[in-house]
Formats: sequence, C-alpha cells, structure tokens
Amino acid sequence: MKPPATRQVTKRLTVIDDEIRHKVLEVLERTPYYAGPETEAFEREVAAYCEANHGIAANSGTSCLLLALMALEIGKGDEVILPSHTFVSVIECVLAVGAAPVLTDVEEDGNLSCSIVERHLSKHTRAVIPVHMYGHPVDLDPILNLAKEREFFVIEDAAHALGSRYRGKRVGGLGHIGFFSFAGKSITVCGQAGMAVTNDEELAERMTALRVHGWRQRVGNVWHVSERLGLNLRTSELLSAIGRINLTRLDGWTEVRAGNAAKLTELLTNRSLPLTTPRTRDDQEPGWLHYVVRAPRRDELEAYLAEQGIETAVHYRVPLHRQPAFQKLAPDPEAFPITEQLSREILTLPSHPWLSDDDLGYMADSIEAFFRA
Ligand SMILES: Cc1ncc(COP(=O)(O)O)c(C=O)c1O
Repeated sequence: MKPPATRQVTKRLTVIDDEIRHKVLEVLERTPYYAGPETEAFEREVAAYCEANHGIAANSGTSCLLLALMALEIGKGDEVILPSHTFVSVIECVLAVGAAPVLTDVEEDGNLSCSIVERHLSKHTRAVIPVHMYGHPVDLDPILNLAKEREFFVIEDAAHALGSRYRGKRVGGLGHIGFFSFAGKSITVCGQAGMAVTNDEELAERMTALRVHGWRQRVGNVWHVSERLGLNLRTSELLSAIGRINLTRLDGWTEVRAGNAAKLTELLTNRSLPLTTPRTRDDQEPGWLHYVVRAPRRDELEAYLAEQGIETAVHYRVPLHRQPAFQKLAPDPEAFPITEQLSREILTLPSHPWLSDDDLGYMADSIEAFFRA
C-alpha cells in the first residue's frame, strides 16, 4: 500500500473563528431559535447584497426552489425547462409540484442559453430554470426578453453564484425569483440553509407564508390559520447568524478566489497540457465557487490527484437524464451531447480563498506530472 500523501490541498475550509463562536453562543442563549431577528436581518442583508427587494430564508436551496414553484402556482399540465447538467434537486422540485420537467443540453460553458430555451419552448412552458453553474452567470438578458415575449417565469438557480455579477449586476434578483444555497457554497452557514430573492412583493409574501404551513403569520403573532397548503421549511437563527457574518466577508473571499483562479489558469496554460481551463465572457464576473477544468482521462487524473493529497470533485458526474430516478423522462442520451461530454471530462479543483501560492503551484505540478508520466 502506498503511504498517504504528506501534503494536503483540501476542497474547502469551514471558517470557525472567535466572532462566529461568540455569536453562536449568544444566539443559543436566547430565543427564538427560528423565525427571529437573525433570520429577518439575514433576509434583508442578502436581498440588499444582490439588489433585490425581498429575501426569503429557508432550510435549503432546494426548499427555496420548491417555494418559488409553489408561489408561482406551477403544477400539473405545466412544463418547466431546465438543464440536465445540474444538481438533482432542480428536477426533484419540478416533479414535486406535479409539473413536467423538460430537460435540455447545455452550451460548452455548462450553462443554458436562449437558443436552447427557444428550442424547447411549447405552449405549456410556464418557467425556465437557468443555473449559474460554478458561479459563471448565464447570459440571462436574451432569456429574460424571451420570457416577456412568450410569458414564462425565469427562476434563477444561483445556488453556486452568490456574489457573481452579470453585466455588472449581482445575479439572483434578475429573474422573477432567484435562490442561493449556503450549504458550503460561496458562504457557508455550517449547516443547511438557502435564500430566495425577488423584487415582487406578492411573490415574497406567498413564499413567506408557504414556508410556514401557509400561515400569514408575523413573528410573535400565532395565528395558525393555513390560507393555503404550505410546509415547514424554516431555517434556524443560529445558521442565519453565521450566514450574516460570512456575508460580510464574501466580497473579500470572492476577490481572492478570482485571483486564485487567474493564477491557476496561468500556471496550467503555461505548461501546454491537454486540459481546458475555464473561460469567462466579458459580461461575466464569476464568483469562482468552483474552478472546473476539462481533461481527458478525468477519472485517472482524479485518482492520481487524490493520491497526491489533492481533493477534487465532479459537479456533476451523473447528469439528470442518466439518473435512474429520472431516466425515463429523457431516455435518449444522444439528445445531450455536450452534457454527456462534460460529465466525462469535468473536474473541480480546489479554489477556496485559503489556498496559498504553494498550493496552486503544487496542484499545477501534480497535474503536469500526471500528463507527462
Ligand atoms: C445547482 C444547484 N442547485 C440547487 C442546489 C440545492 O441547494 P441545497 O443543497 O441548499 O438544497 C444545489 C446544491 O448543491 C446546486 O448545486
């Protein structure tokens, strides 16, 4: 057996410092534990951060998407367009509300485009879910224009993209509803939480009510009257408090991530390796949650880097059209040529803000060693 690598480059670090320790104890020592001032402030602060009017916190990004679909009253007989190259919860939520998911391929950058959406529109289309993969914004304006013309809703899946900008504006608040995940994404809450944002007051009110049993309830006002079918999808005060602290740190982290991404790209391209580094369009300022390369012999490279102590990931290895639970909805893999190729080639390298220049050099050296061997 080979000895373990002496050097470790991990995927991400959780930040637990004195400010967070102090805050956690302060919140634990008082009530309420949910639906209290930390969550309300977190909602206001995330909404303001992405220049949206309303924030609706929930216990995961998945729950936010479910709330969005429910608030838009999307259900039986409706079609929702989404990329196959994404996380499984996107299709789960569409199916959970009884709508029909229409899976599509993606462009080479891993994102949906307006022309892909156009090819899948039908008279039943009620919504499109563009996913800002890896923190690289979708080219949204043409999709938003089409949405106006053809009357469908745009729900931005910005789970990866808190802090990313498209045409100078932060993503999330650009469509009808957007949502973020805080489960170890651009910011972490050391647990599971998410936030939906919208500029539409009525949608915000609906999502707020649906999040807690369909009640129209103010904190401290226990009405317990369900005006519509809802659920309990609230998050905890503790997690909101951690999220608030990390939100104040996000821009600094994003700057470092972007710097790391630029250095890594330079290190990798200088060596003429058979590898594609991520590209960025002029209208994008990515948050660089994930730094994703495309490489031949990806699985071997992944195993080799693990031996060198470098943690990598694949976002995502099994596209939705190949997931056993959903395969019957899109049985022909030939309809997804780019997604198929991406799922074989993509590899996510560590990109977090605590990487040193030595870590970046070590990653590039290790990748070079693999291809030269
Ligand atoms: C693209 C995408 N959408 C939605 C989600 C769901 O977020 P959560 O895990 O907070 O439910 C994730 C989670 O990783 C994701 O990557």
